Amino acid sequence: MTHARDNFVAWLRNAHAMEEQAATLLAAQVKRIETYPDLKARLSQHLEETRVHAELLKDLLDKSSGSASPIRTAAARLSAATQGITGMLTHDEVVKDLTSGYAFEHLEIGTYRVLIAAADELGDDEARLVFERILGEEEKMAQWFGDHLDGLTRIFLMRDERDLLAKR
Ligand SMILES: [Fe+2]
Repeated sequence: MTHARDNFVAWLRNAHAMEEQAATLLAAQVKRIETYPDLKARLSQHLEETRVHAELLKDLLDKSSGSASPIRTAAARLSAATQGITGMLTHDEVVKDLTSGYAFEHLEIGTYRVLIAAADELGDDEARLVFERILGEEEKMAQWFGDHLDGLTRIFLMRDERDLLAKR
């Protein structure tokens, strides 16, 4: 199972970079949101969860003797920072946060489902349990976005119509 192990470690490394990227992006969003307290609270909760995810993956990587590539992590942080800046330049920043957040959670869900299958093939129960725990939190966050897209979009439109601070 050498190839399976190599694939597993590569996917794990990518997942770690993905979580680092998510943490940078969430931190930037939480800092900027002013008029959507429920969204701000939910995103800061998920920021804390995301930081734990990154640590859990780092521990698994250290055990797999394939530590996270610093270059990749730095690249992911930079790309997240750029995304954050791009969002700030739009008048509908909060709506962009919602759609990109919804998409990002589904990318994470797919990533963890792949990792769960790989860990299962390798008989790595410890890793599988970690991925299952993280998957549950990503699914809850995706569900929250799904449940709130409609309402938050309407609040944005209403505030924008009245020239109130709507974008963030
Ligand atoms: Fe997430």
